[in-house]
Amino acid sequence: MTTVISGIGELVTNDPARAGRGGLLGLVRDAAVVLEGSRVAWVGPAADAPAADVQVDAGGRAVIPGFVDSHSHLVFAGDRSAEFEARMTGQPYTAGGIRTTVERTRSATDEQLTSHVARLVAEMRAQGTTSLEIKSGYGLSVHDEARSLAVARQFTDETTFLGAHVVPAGTTPADYVDLVTGPMLAAAAPHARWIDVFCEDGAFDVDQARTILAAGSDSGLRGRLHANQLTYGAGVRLACELGLVAVDHCTFLSDDDVAALSDSGTIATLLPGVEFSTRQPYPDARGLIDAGVRVALASDCNPGSSFTSSMALCIALAVREMRMSPAEALHAATATGAAALDRDDVGVLAPGKAADLVLLDAPSYVHLAYRPGVPLVAGVWQAGRPVVAAPTPG
Ligand code: NIG
Ligand code: FE
Repeated sequence: MTTVISGIGELVTNDPARAGRGGLLGLVRDAAVVLEGSRVAWVGPAADAPAADVQVDAGGRAVIPGFVDSHSHLVFAGDRSAEFEARMTGQPYTAGGIRTTVERTRSATDEQLTSHVARLVAEMRAQGTTSLEIKSGYGLSVHDEARSLAVARQFTDETTFLGAHVVPAGTTPADYVDLVTGPMLAAAAPHARWIDVFCEDGAFDVDQARTILAAGSDSGLRGRLHANQLTYGAGVRLACELGLVAVDHCTFLSDDDVAALSDSGTIATLLPGVEFSTRQPYPDARGLIDAGVRVALASDCNPGSSFTSSMALCIALAVREMRMSPAEALHAATATGAAALDRDDVGVLAPGKAADLVLLDAPSYVHLAYRPGVPLVAGVWQAGRPVVAAPTPG
């Protein structure tokens, strides 16, 4: 079945082939897109659009690629709003709050975890996210990490083993690294594509991170890293040295870190929901981009440091607080988010790419930052199927 969406006032393609006239976002005005099955079949001026089985009129509104949220921690149970409230009245954020969620996650059933993830994924989809990564990290036992990943796998292929989130109560760091790199990795690897380490004071140091990422690589998992979120340190440089596709947070960076990122091509994934929710200084996105670093944006949706599922909020914060242009921020939340997952089939609207797109209730993508907090998603297609409030076929 084919669907043509025409009457698109402003189409964001992110297609590098259109970058000349269309700028970073490969914009096409008065455009149409044809979807065939799960793929994009045609993109171009509406006047030239081929006929299709189903016609949708965008009414002059904007269409963008679905957001690619490359960093989330959706598998958890329990509520930490009291911790947020305490933080907003003066308590600092520390990595230790993770242990509260671990207790609740371990005592939840598989069904409870699955229905909670399903609710959050639906919440994301309703806000335009069509691809996402999900980490484990609130189980921290062989059984609970493996089942967290099995739950996550029901929702995405981009699953990440984060057994090295914090050292759980009742064990030593050395014993826990042995567990993570041994039996826990063996149980997790069949359900995961990636391995991640929270490399930070209070979590794991650079040597431990190196050991854990090497073990993951030996088991066929690709590395990614949480680094330089709370303090300066060598985590970002480790990610660059290892040639990881992305390193996430990057809030406290030295000049050497920035140079390492720009030399290695490792993507800096910035998570402004964290700075918003922990009242920390924002990362210097402008400085990174000006130094030639590739920047992605993601939600880091988790119950402790950033309980938002809204990529539009991340874009608004990136523009207002991190001095990204609206075009840079949208590109970072779509095409570069895809690159941070080493994917080139999503985040771009061009023939052959995934038919994942969002119709905005706005004439321009700029409204994502210009109208913060306003629900602007009028329709979402995922793999060619209308999944959110899409207009009825006409
Ligand atoms: O990405 N940084 C480590 N992990 C999460 C926070 C998890 C928590 O506080 O529960 C993050 O910010
Ligand atoms: Fe995270």
